[in-house]
Amino acid sequence: MISNPILTTSQRPAVLARLKDVLMEPLAEEDKTPIHDSVRLATERRSILLKVAGDFGTPCYVLSESDLVERAGNFTRAFARCGVRAETFYAYKANELPYLCRRLHREGLDAEVVSGMELQLALKLGCKQILFNGPAKSDEELRLAAQHADRVWLHVDHANELSRIRRLKLPAGRPIRMGVRIDPGARIGGTWRKFGVSPDDTVKLIRQIIATRGLKWEGLHGHMSWNTSPEPYRELIRIFARVLRRLSLKERACLQYIDLGGGFYPRGEGIRLLDTAIGRLILVAEAEAGCRLVDRREIFPRMADIPEYASAISEEISRSILSIPGIRQDLIVRFEPGRWIVNNTVGILVTTLTKKRRDAVIVDGGIHLTHDRRMEEEYHPVVNLSRPGHAPRERKCRVFGPMCDPNDWWSDTCWGDLPVPGDHLWVANMGAYSSSSAMRFLFPLAPYVLLTKSGTARKLTERESFDRRYPREWFR
Ligand SMILES: Cc1ncc(COP(=O)(O)O)c(C=O)c1O
Repeated sequence: MISNPILTTSQRPAVLARLKDVLMEPLAEEDKTPIHDSVRLATERRSILLKVAGDFGTPCYVLSESDLVERAGNFTRAFARCGVRAETFYAYKANELPYLCRRLHREGLDAEVVSGMELQLALKLGCKQILFNGPAKSDEELRLAAQHADRVWLHVDHANELSRIRRLKLPAGRPIRMGVRIDPGARIGGTWRKFGVSPDDTVKLIRQIIATRGLKWEGLHGHMSWNTSPEPYRELIRIFARVLRRLSLKERACLQYIDLGGGFYPRGEGIRLLDTAIGRLILVAEAEAGCRLVDRREIFPRMADIPEYASAISEEISRSILSIPGIRQDLIVRFEPGRWIVNNTVGILVTTLTKKRRDAVIVDGGIHLTHDRRMEEEYHPVVNLSRPGHAPRERKCRVFGPMCDPNDWWSDTCWGDLPVPGDHLWVANMGAYSSSSAMRFLFPLAPYVLLTKSGTARKLTERESFDRRYPREWFR
């Protein structure tokens, strides 16, 4: 007999009813077209990608300059078309490759950073406007930000941080411009509630900033990632509006910008079932049943595209914020996109080392090129560039990486013919949170190759060497 069941007898019916609801919920609208588009693009670029593999070796990241420039332009133009006075701050954390960041700055994007390392990089790359976020800025980082107050805005994350900033008496030739980060609340916040403060505390922090010499309050900030529709942004704008209504007219006049963060989910990848509530339930049921109950392992929710976000956001700002007395009508709207800008501009090129079974292969690069759980959460098309087949077709083939880790696996399928040793494969849309969060586990960090707008390829960074990882002086 179970002496300490997890659920009490009275809780059980409600839990079972909820589980049943989850299992019976219809899937959101699906769209696999972007996956097909990504496969087609890789196949069209096949000859240059095979040349890159031959000339520079694998594994490597391949960045397309034309895709990067096009996406940066598409993002900023969409908001301009809707009459939003938008400023785009590229989130360095998505991919901090200096070439890439500098190229985006040339396209008019500024920088969003969350650490002293990133801040130093943005300063060194000559970025003119930098937003400094994060819940744990050190005194040293705050001093660096203050020294560059002409270029940096500090977004305060919590009351302790503001007290520390006030105590530090940061040296600044000019006032330090500040924003306050809002906790987006239970309805939309999800795991992002770690950041920011409640609306009540936001009002308090704004007043403290305004009352402090040397500090200047200019903005409201919020952020959540993985958004597939405009609704979370609409809700965030309504939360901002409720805070603004509680300020006096004089206080409202200080507001220069609202910052809606990043979080726009790009098209071109799927979500693994395991990364959904229903998927985890199914897997538990399958483990209990001892057999596979459901065939599919991925879902492909329709992701809104940027013009859809732009029109919904501009409409909500007009309705909820610009209608508040005292708010400037030429309010700046800041964004901090990372994933949307860079994800579809980089792919990972690998080579098949061996066949394990008829439909399983090991390739020379694995999840050390991205991060530990990535492929358990996301589906990315893997394309056989050496043997694409007549019409791109997805075949069952488990594609494993080289690490001594059974979870080192890219996909259960491969587009094109079944790979044989020597075939070069392309893992599409791996530009965000891959090289910037790559693991140093077992293998060297991989190099970057650039496909230039003029159609040539050149190396941007070198493969990590033994001496670089283990400097000679360590052995003296
Ligand atoms: C404050 C902030 N801004 C922007 C981003 C970029 O988000 P995404 O890459 O989802 O656009 C992040 C990501 O974690 C973030 O924490």
